[in-house]
Amino acid sequence: MAEPKKLFIKTYGCQMNVYDSERMAEALGASGYVTTQSADDADMILLNTCHIREKAAEKVYSELGRFKALKAANPDLKIGVAGCVAQAEGAEIMRRQPLVDLVVGPQTYHRLPAMEAAVRAGGRAVDTDFPEEDKFDHLPKGPRAMRGPSAFLTVQEGCDKFCAFCVVPYTRGAEVSRPVARVLAEAEDLVARGVREITLLGQNVNAYHGDGVGGVWGLARLIRELARIEGLKRIRFTTSHPNDMEDDLIAAHGDEPKLMPYLHLPVQSGSDRILKAMNRKHTAADYLRVIDRLRAARPDLLLSGDFIVGFPGETEADFQDTLALVRAVGYGQAYSFKYSARPGTPAAERAGVSDDVASDRLARLQALLAEQQREIPEAMDGREVSVLLENPGRMGGQLVGKSEYLEAGHGTDPRAQLGDIGRVRIVESGPNSLAGVLV
Ligand code: SAH
Ligand code: SF4
Ligand code: F3S
Repeated sequence: MAEPKKLFIKTYGCQMNVYDSERMAEALGASGYVTTQSADDADMILLNTCHIREKAAEKVYSELGRFKALKAANPDLKIGVAGCVAQAEGAEIMRRQPLVDLVVGPQTYHRLPAMEAAVRAGGRAVDTDFPEEDKFDHLPKGPRAMRGPSAFLTVQEGCDKFCAFCVVPYTRGAEVSRPVARVLAEAEDLVARGVREITLLGQNVNAYHGDGVGGVWGLARLIRELARIEGLKRIRFTTSHPNDMEDDLIAAHGDEPKLMPYLHLPVQSGSDRILKAMNRKHTAADYLRVIDRLRAARPDLLLSGDFIVGFPGETEADFQDTLALVRAVGYGQAYSFKYSARPGTPAAERAGVSDDVASDRLARLQALLAEQQREIPEAMDGREVSVLLENPGRMGGQLVGKSEYLEAGHGTDPRAQLGDIGRVRIVESGPNSLAGVLV
């Protein structure tokens, strides 16, 4: 048998890219590739890229430059660019960077084996179509690369919301949901391979509307059906849009014990004027009402969010509205960004806020968010949380994992195994980790 070729994949961006990287590795597995952790000994390097903000794309170009020496040392090395930068500027990548052999968009990576064969034959290949066929139906059936008891599962992809700042509707295409039966089959397969926690992924996952028995199913119904899989212990989903938080999904947070009490629900801004300019189609009050209903269903729900500061036209008063919203909600975790103009989006045409002002607002927002995040673990000392044990720790006998709230936790117990959910009594907690004893 020929020695397997080695594939190195570097992943940028959101969890969906992490999932896609695994699937690309499987697709190329059928062409005789095994993955490697180092670019140095690879026969193929794939960068799975993100286009959400300026720096994300720039990183890709500088990373590509660094592969020049590797390619000089190994002329058989093939270099590919996948993901959202590939989709947005595939032709430009080919022009700007002659090192690149292959460009593949997020919707065509099931065609990677044919593309790989073409570049091995000495050509260059670009495929950034939005094909009719569903890539998930056409991926070669290889063994799923397994990385422990927690897994991602894409159930919905693309976005029709067209927020004025965002490239996702252009790089991922229109919103599409996978059929219920496919999702269930994939979940059952994952659980049979030892997965205990599944995070359902979609750019707008709570807009899920997949064909199922008796008609179209929403996300809540899908979650309830998944919860019936015995070996599956935890269900999460991300990312959601406030306008798609429907009644049954809110209710599921209260009555579905496998659904974890952690929700990422981005709002972007607390100013109605800016929300309107962003084309978010909801107000700050709409968002707060959704949060109230969620907390009524699940009082210990931990909220996470995304914020953009310095959106074109944002005044100090608008920014104060964002701070007020953050105070009203109390986030356990949050991501915040300076607005970055993305080519082709409506907001890119508008005059921006100066970088100094945006940086200052970002610092003030992050200080407030950091304060809120500290409050939660402190409140936890001496309490018990459940930790899904996912990996061996650095210390002998130690197992590490995540709590219901996604904090890193660790403990030691000779009887505990990976994939178990251990009760950990907190003996020490920091903003992002819990140290405990397994009880
Ligand atoms: N689908 C999700 C998130 C998509 S992108 C949602 O609807 O909320 C992840 C986050 O990146 C966004 O929530 C937003 O806060 C940020 N983001 C997207 N475009 C951006 C831009 N042009 N500049 C700065 N941040 C941006
Ligand atoms: Fe982007 Fe808005 Fe769609 Fe989220 S809802 S992916 S921010 S366009
Ligand atoms: Fe980035 Fe594409 Fe995800 S732009 S955030 S990798 S959908």
